[in-house]
Amino acid sequence: MSTDVMIEASGLSKKFGRVRALDKISFKVKKGEVVGFLGPNGAGKSTTMRILTCFISPTVGSAKVHGYDVFDDPLDVRKSIGYLPQRAPLYTDMSVEEYLRFTAQVRHLDEARYKKQLGKVIEICGLAQVLTKDIGTLSHGYRQRVGLGQALIHDPPILILDEPTADLDPNEKAEVIRYIKEIGKDRTVLLSTHNLAEVEEACARAIIVSKGRIVADGPLDEIRAKTGSVRYIVTIDERHAEAGQKPPTATAVQEAFQRIDGAKTVRELPTDENAHKFELSSAEDADLRAEIFRLVVSNSWTLLELERKAQSLDAVFRDLTRGDERLDRGEAWEGDAADEAADRDDDDDEDDDDSDEDERDSDAGEDDKSRSQKSKAGDDDDNDDDDDDDDDDDDRKANKEKR
Ligand SMILES: Nc1ncnc2c1ncn2[C@@H]1O[C@H](COP(=O)(O)OP(=O)(O)O)[C@@H](O)[C@H]1O
Ligand SMILES: [Mg+2]
Repeated sequence: MSTDVMIEASGLSKKFGRVRALDKISFKVKKGEVVGFLGPNGAGKSTTMRILTCFISPTVGSAKVHGYDVFDDPLDVRKSIGYLPQRAPLYTDMSVEEYLRFTAQVRHLDEARYKKQLGKVIEICGLAQVLTKDIGTLSHGYRQRVGLGQALIHDPPILILDEPTADLDPNEKAEVIRYIKEIGKDRTVLLSTHNLAEVEEACARAIIVSKGRIVADGPLDEIRAKTGSVRYIVTIDERHAEAGQKPPTATAVQEAFQRIDGAKTVRELPTDENAHKFELSSAEDADLRAEIFRLVVSNSWTLLELERKAQSLDAVFRDLTRGDERLDRGEAWEGDAADEAADRDDDDDEDDDDSDEDERDSDAGEDDKSRSQKSKAGDDDDNDDDDDDDDDDDDRKANKEKR
C-alpha cells in the first residue's frame, strides 16, 4: 500500500441478521484529504466507520488505517485515529477539562503532552470559554466541539467523524463545520453526513453510499456533472389573452415547449396560481432561456416566471440514492446466493457480538434494540432460500450465545 493512503476499505460487507448493511464497499482516502461520506439514513455510513475504528468486524472484506490492519493491529489503528461517534459518549457531570483529561489518560498521554495538547485543542475547537463548565450545561453545539476535542487530544493524523452536525441548529452547524475545516488543514478526515451543503462547504471529494453500496466517488464537480442536465421553470398566465385570441391551454403550451430544439423533457408542475407551470430540461451546456422567451412572445402569452437551474448536488444525490427508504423501514436486502458462499464463517459473528457489546458501553445512547427489531422484521422476507438457511444458522447461534 502506498504510504500516502491513510484509509483503505477493501470489499467490506456487513450483515446484521438478515439486514445487509454493507455490500462490498471499497475506497481509499489519501493523506490530507477531507472526504464527505454521504448517504441517507440507513445507507451504511456508521457501520463503515465502526469497522474502520475497530468497534465491529466486517462479515467479509478488510480495511487498513494508517497502514495498519483493523483485524491484526487494532491498537495501532486506534492510536492513529480520532473518532467522534454519531452519539458522542460524553460524561455530563464532568467539566470539559476533566473530561478531556480523562480521555487523555485513557489514551496514555503523560502530563506534559496532555498540557501541550490541551492548549491546541482549546484553540482548534474554541473551548476556552467553557473549560470549567459541566458538559451537561453546554449547548449541543458546544458538546459536539467537546466531542471533537476528545477526538483530537492525542493528535491523531486521521479523524473519523460520524454526523458531527446532526441535531445542531444552523448556526451551530456552521460553527462546527468551520472547526472541522480548520482541523482538516493538516489531517485526513472522513466526515459522514446527509447534509450536502456541509460537504460542499468542507470537502473537495465525496463518497456517496446508498443501500450499503458506493454509488459515486470523486471530486464534487464530477459528481455534480454525473446527470449533466439543467432545468428550467416556466410559468405562463392561463387567463390572459391578446384581443381576439383565446387564453393558452396547458396542452398547447406543452406541445410548443416540446418543439424547442434541445428540450430533453417537458413536464407539467402543479401550481396554486392561475397559470400553466412547466419544467423543461436540457443538456448541461445548453441555455434555452432565449428560445423559451421568443416562443412565449410569438404566441402572445404572458410570461410570469422563467428560471434556469443548474443541476444541484442535491438532485444528483436524490437520483443516486433513491429507494433507500426501503432499507430504512428495515426490510431485508435482496438475497445474493453467490455472496453468501463468500461470507465468513460463524466465528466472526461471535466477534461481532462481542464488539457490539463493547460499543454499547462506550457509545451511550446507541439504539441497538431498535436495530435488532428491524433486522427481525426482515426475517419475514422470503426471497432467497440459501440466504434463509444461512441466516437461520446465524440466528440459532446468536440465540445459543444469549442463553
Ligand atoms: N447493530 C445493528 N444491528 C442490526 N442492524 C443494524 C445494526 N447497525 C446497523 N444496522 C442496520 O444496518 C443498516 C445501516 O446502518 P448504519 O450504518 O447505521 O446507516 P447510516 O449510518 O448510514 O444511517 C441499517 O439498515 C441499520 O438498521
Ligand atoms: Mg449513522
